[in-house]
Amino acid sequence: MGVVLLVAPGIMRTLRFILIWCGWASVTAADPVVTEHRGQAIYRDNCMECHLESGKGIVGLGVPSIAGLPRWYVTDQLREFRREVRGSHDEDQAGGLMQMKAKSLGDRELAFVGRYIESLPPSSERATLDLPVAAEGHARYLADCASCHGANGEGDRSRRAPPLTRQPDWYLLKQLENFREGKRQHHKKSDEVEPAPAAAAAAALVAWLAALPAAEPDQ
Ligand code: HEC
Ligand code: HEC
Repeated sequence: MGVVLLVAPGIMRTLRFILIWCGWASVTAADPVVTEHRGQAIYRDNCMECHLESGKGIVGLGVPSIAGLPRWYVTDQLREFRREVRGSHDEDQAGGLMQMKAKSLGDRELAFVGRYIESLPPSSERATLDLPVAAEGHARYLADCASCHGANGEGDRSRRAPPLTRQPDWYLLKQLENFREGKRQHHKKSDEVEPAPAAAAAAALVAWLAALPAAEPDQ
C-alpha cells in the first residue's frame, strides 16, 4: 500500500506531462505550469522571430524589448493593434507590422502569451542612447507622469498605464514622438493630461526613466 502511495503521484505527474504534450492542456488551463507551456509555444511560433527568444527585441528593426511587461498591458496593446486603434497611421510602419501579427491571434492566445511575456526577465540594457540624465527629467516626470505611471515608473493597472522601466530608451522616445505627432493615442482621458512633451523635454524624461532600476510593475 505504502509503495502505491509513493508511486501514484509520480505516475500522475507523468500522465499530466503526456497530456500537456498531446495538446489536451485546455482541460486544466488554470494550472500555471500548463499556462507557461502554452504561452511559450505561442510566443515561439508567433513572436520570437522579431522579439527574440529573450523578449529583448531587435533595435535595427524597431522591435522593442517587451520582456517583463505585465500581462494586462500586453493584452491591452494586442487588442488595440487588433482593433486598429494602434498601428494604423500611414507613417507608423513599426505599428503596422505588429498590427498584422496581432490580428492573427485569438483572445485565448493573447492571454496565454501575455503571461509568458510577463515571466521573462526584463532587459538591463535600457539606456542605449547616451542621453544626459538631469534633475529636470525627474522633476518633470513627477509633475506630469507619475500620477498615472507611478513615482518609480512601476505603472498603474487601474489606469491601464504601463510600467516605463521595461522598455529601452529609443523605443520610449519614439512612442513620445508618436503621441506628439498623432500616430498613436496616449491616454483615454485627454483632459487629465498635459500636452505631449516636446522633443527636448521628452529626451530628459526618457534619460531619467532609462536610468531607473526595473522596479516590480503594478500587477
Ligand atoms: C514582424 C515582427 C514582429 C512580430 C512577429 C511580433 N512583433 Fe510585437 N512589435 C513589433 C514592432 C516593430 C513593435 C513596435 C511597434 C511600435 O513601435 O509602435 C512591436 C510592439 C509590440 C508590443 C508593444 C510594446 C509596448 O510597450 O507597448 C507588444 C506588447 C508586442 N509587440 C507583442 C508581440 C507579441 C505577443 C507577438 C507574438 C504574438 C509579437 N509582438 C510579434 C514587431 C513584431
Ligand atoms: C492620465 C494618465 C497618464 C499620464 C498623466 C501619462 N500617461 Fe503615459 N500612458 C498612459 C496610458 C493609459 C498609456 C497606455 C496607452 C495605450 O493604451 O496605448 C500610456 C503609455 C505611455 C507610453 C508608451 C509605453 C509603451 O510601452 O509603449 C509612454 C512612453 C508614456 N506613456 C510616457 C508618459 C510620459 C513621459 C508622461 C508624462 C509626460 C505620461 N506618459 C503621462 C497614461 C498616462
